[in-house]
Amino acid sequence: MCSRTILSALLLGALPFRTSAQYGINLTGFTPDSVDCTGVKSISPKCSSKESAYQRDFFYIGGGYVDSGIPGQQAWSDQLYVEKLTPANKVNKPYPMVFVSAGVNTGAQWLNTPDNRKGWASYYLDQGYQVYIVDIAANGRSSQQVQSKYPLRLGSTDIINQQGFTAPEDYDQYPQADMHTQWPGNGSRGDPVFDAFTAANGPISSSNVNVENTMRTSGCQLLSMIGQSYTICHSAGCTYTAIWSDACPDLLRANINIEPGNIPFTSLIGNNTVAGVGRSSARPCGLTYTPLQFDPPVTDCSAITTAEVGPDSPAKRSCILQTGTIHKLTQLNKVPYIMITGEASPHITYDHCFVEYFEQMGLTNYQWIKLADIGIEGNAHFMFLEKNNQEIAAAINYGLMQLNMYPAAPGHPSLPISSHGSSKPSHLGLGWLAWIGRP
Ligand SMILES: *[C@@H]1O[C@H](CO)[C@@H](O)[C@H](O)[C@H]1NC(C)=O
Ligand SMILES: *[C@@H]1O[C@H](CO)[C@@H](O)[C@H](O)[C@H]1NC(C)=O
Ligand SMILES: *[C@@H]1O[C@H](CO)[C@@H](O)[C@H](O)[C@H]1NC(C)=O
Repeated sequence: MCSRTILSALLLGALPFRTSAQYGINLTGFTPDSVDCTGVKSISPKCSSKESAYQRDFFYIGGGYVDSGIPGQQAWSDQLYVEKLTPANKVNKPYPMVFVSAGVNTGAQWLNTPDNRKGWASYYLDQGYQVYIVDIAANGRSSQQVQSKYPLRLGSTDIINQQGFTAPEDYDQYPQADMHTQWPGNGSRGDPVFDAFTAANGPISSSNVNVENTMRTSGCQLLSMIGQSYTICHSAGCTYTAIWSDACPDLLRANINIEPGNIPFTSLIGNNTVAGVGRSSARPCGLTYTPLQFDPPVTDCSAITTAEVGPDSPAKRSCILQTGTIHKLTQLNKVPYIMITGEASPHITYDHCFVEYFEQMGLTNYQWIKLADIGIEGNAHFMFLEKNNQEIAAAINYGLMQLNMYPAAPGHPSLPISSHGSSKPSHLGLGWLAWIGRP
């Protein structure tokens, strides 16, 4: 009834009448003759997506009306933007997965990679997980109208990205950087994949306290609505899943930390001529700027005193631990904590500081996986975007398959989930094979 000629005329509107073929358009299938669908070019309409088939819903959770600054008018504040992705095949896993970014790149970073390969959201959709992606407060589509409460600061720059994330091997700041091989492209300005990554950087709020408080309230509200879930966080995003583990632990099945950025009491940047350079004090409560639940209790974290512990070298940084009266975390042991560190990332020089702090806190329900120990080599900080991102996702999934079989809250499984019944946590790497591995 509707011939191709008529259809093409409708599509082309007021243009002079010509057939689709004359425009070089094949309306049958949009199949290109020869189109380059590699890397950043694959966003062309002529290229098929590498992402998995899913349905998407979005919603905002939490917050409420506050004074807008305009007399008599109110605005909504403190809400979080969440995407719900449902696998086209169907959900076959008992617990959803909630992804939390640092905000330097928004929640969109869990979708396709900058060079348009399949991202982690798609990987877990393929495994049958219900996926949720949260934009952290004041970042991305969780942007906030009350600007006095959520002042913004720069998220990242070309140099921060190259040095810390995509091309640390070009900077010689710590010896492990030379092993970095997994970033797609040369990881520097001018490379289309690097530029696509950098274009996705956005502002984050400089009000750590307000962001943490909103993430605590609205984040636990999300989890109480969707039920016990796995959380997968990256870098500074792990501040917020630590807060959830403290404030609503029964709602987290396990907290998987991809190179957590909330290093206890400090921020570190490596440098091979002056080992201590780049250290600044941060997070007076240890993992956070706002108090967690401690014993003895803490209402103002300036009550916690700290000292530098251990030798400091570019390959292995010193840590900051509590001194004097030790305030122990009372809630964090309830949620299995898994930390994953790449072989060539700056984090390989300081993620041991989490382990030292957890030991001081008396925590046992954690494991540290160094990817090189399970044969996954060459990764840096944005491992979930790197060339072997599917391999890392599969290793995590291998561990999740065991956690899926344990009963729901309050019966949290504890780590390590071991086929040989060990109850002593092994955080030195190889013990991890009991939980995580290469399928
Ligand atoms: C148009 O696309 C269809 C489906 O991809 C293909 O079978 C057909 O050969 C194409 N026709 C032309 C004229 O290129
Ligand atoms: C990276 O690749 C881009 C594009 O080819 C080039 O302009 C740039 O000089 C390269 N940078 C390095 C450090 O190799
Ligand atoms: C390390 O930091 C010191 C002090 O800021 C600086 O002088 C030196 O150039 C840095 N070295 C490297 C390799 O970046």
